Amino acid sequence: MKATEIKPDIFWVGAVDWSIRDFHGYVIPHGSTYNNYLIIDEEITLVDSVKSDFAETGIRNITNIIDPARIDNIVINHIENDHVGALDRMVDLAPDATIYITERGKLGLGRFFNISGWDIRTVKTGDELHTGKYTLRFLETPMLHWPDSMMTYIPQARLLISQDAFGQHLATTARFDDEFIECASHPELEDAVVDYYANILMPFGKLITNKIADIQELKLDIDMIAPDHGVIWRANPDRVMEMYLEMAAGKADLSVAIIYDTMWKSTEIMTQPMVQGIKDEGVEAKVIKLRATPMSVAIKEFWKSRGCLVGSPTLNNEVFPSVAEFMTHLRGLRPKDRLAGAFGSYGWSGGATKWLYGEFERMKLDTAGPGIQVQYRPSPEDMDECYQFGRKFAGEVKEYHQNYQKG
Ligand code: FEO
Repeated sequence: MKATEIKPDIFWVGAVDWSIRDFHGYVIPHGSTYNNYLIIDEEITLVDSVKSDFAETGIRNITNIIDPARIDNIVINHIENDHVGALDRMVDLAPDATIYITERGKLGLGRFFNISGWDIRTVKTGDELHTGKYTLRFLETPMLHWPDSMMTYIPQARLLISQDAFGQHLATTARFDDEFIECASHPELEDAVVDYYANILMPFGKLITNKIADIQELKLDIDMIAPDHGVIWRANPDRVMEMYLEMAAGKADLSVAIIYDTMWKSTEIMTQPMVQGIKDEGVEAKVIKLRATPMSVAIKEFWKSRGCLVGSPTLNNEVFPSVAEFMTHLRGLRPKDRLAGAFGSYGWSGGATKWLYGEFERMKLDTAGPGIQVQYRPSPEDMDECYQFGRKFAGEVKEYHQNYQKG
């Protein structure tokens, strides 16, 4: 995709990655983009780079506007590989450029590249770079989502370049939110925001709330948010901020996600009466089989629901491996404000259900228990117990949800 002017003399010069599906283990069914921005002013500035595989695409987009050797400044908001992968190529082409980056960013950059001979200036919140008609003001956002992270605000353009925050993994010809909604749909765009948040930003809710409060306190006049992935928010930048505040505060649907795996279908069969019990209690339910679902989708579905039931057979006295993998991902994401329970089947000795409750406790996740276990195949009586279990759990989720809403 060719360069796009997003504000007067400010261009998107990134790359669309139509084919990526595995983003460091996170499945992204819709591909992604690596956004970076070129500001043409008395001093010319490039904000962020692109993934190394897309260096030539990014360079071509820049070269169609100016000779890259004329770049005076390169701002690096975030040093993860998808944003600095092509930085060494850019420095080769713009050898006189000064790099602006946080102190922690500089330390990290030195681990990825041989930076001797690079002109690097470290910046902190409030520092400014005057390029002519534009001013670039830096705002550190440590742990959103790496220690080095920052954003760049350009007051004259009312533009916030927000690095990963407010991004989405969407490969699309649309460069802006309104263009995407026109060719796809609003729910698809919001789902991509939730997916990104759940899989990348879930652990940082408190930081997000505080950082958005900082932005509001600084009274930054923003009418466009340009993230480093996906579409640029020009039609309704307030909506994505509102979504982030809601998610950071733990917003979820009154629903139960049943996330399970199964050996000989006994654990799977248990889900059927549970779903009915949950539904009969007036709560929506969805069922996600782990081996049939990308992990990132299972995480997103967990995040969207107020309640979660995790099901696993016991295999060799242990939890089923795919369930253990899910729980490992979940533990790292430090979920909050969700009610969890567990169920499963076993042959000659159980254990998986107990293990799951132990893991919920380790994560400090609220639980309703003690769960339900069935030996070999669920009998009609077991099926009735599963129905009652689902119904009781849904009732507890309803109460938990009401308490959450009351604050
Ligand atoms: Fe898109 Fe944290 O990198």
